[in-house]
Amino acid sequence: MNKAKRKAIIAGNWKMNKTATEAAALIGELVPSVKGAGCEVVICTPFTSLCKAVELCRGTNIHVGAENVHFEKSGAFTGEISAGMLVDLGVEYVIVGHSERRQYFAETDETVNKRAKAALAAGLKVIVCVGVTEELVRMQTKIALQGVSAEEMQRVVIAYEPVWAIGTGRTATSEQAQEVCAAIRKVVGELYGQAVAEATTVQYGGSMNAANADELLEKPDVDGGLIGGASLKADAFGAIVAAASK
Ligand code: 13P
Repeated sequence: MNKAKRKAIIAGNWKMNKTATEAAALIGELVPSVKGAGCEVVICTPFTSLCKAVELCRGTNIHVGAENVHFEKSGAFTGEISAGMLVDLGVEYVIVGHSERRQYFAETDETVNKRAKAALAAGLKVIVCVGVTEELVRMQTKIALQGVSAEEMQRVVIAYEPVWAIGTGRTATSEQAQEVCAAIRKVVGELYGQAVAEATTVQYGGSMNAANADELLEKPDVDGGLIGGASLKADAFGAIVAAASK
């Protein structure tokens, strides 16, 4: 496997943090801190900060993403946001299937797949989250990608996030992260062939921080990170971006 064939992506998942005013302040610190990065930099913010984030990141190397999207185009779905609405705002990425959505909001493998397809159809790039055991990760990956074309895979990133590592300060060892990220790439290879597997970015997420990023990102199948807590601090996020830029 050749790491040079794919993009390293460091994505911040802000979760339910930061008002739009606070987001503007954080972005003001992030812009200089990740300027000149040698990897792709993404911040995924709550819906209420997206407008501000798109405006402030324009002309910088920071790409903006949402944390969820509904699968229908429009209609009577109170409180939901469609992929078209995100595209219209200038949003480029969206996370789907985060374990917190699966755990607290009854997200299933089927709805993850529907959201991924709707987002791709609207032109978004999708970060599909999978987690738990290696066997489940294989199944979650397969179901999430049902009906997604090889061409659309150019806009799909897969993030391996072991649930026990999220927000706990307990990170997977670099060997564990490598093993599961390699298993995910193998599934992508089974579904789409070797070339697509080699070109697909597979991230690790779960308590990644400035201190452990180097070791995790050194692994051949770990192409970046999906960062929660550490993405809310410009210096910590900047250090992870620097680690991925080596
Ligand atoms: P933490 O980095 O806070 O563990 O969160 C990881 C995560 O869930 C990113 O989506």
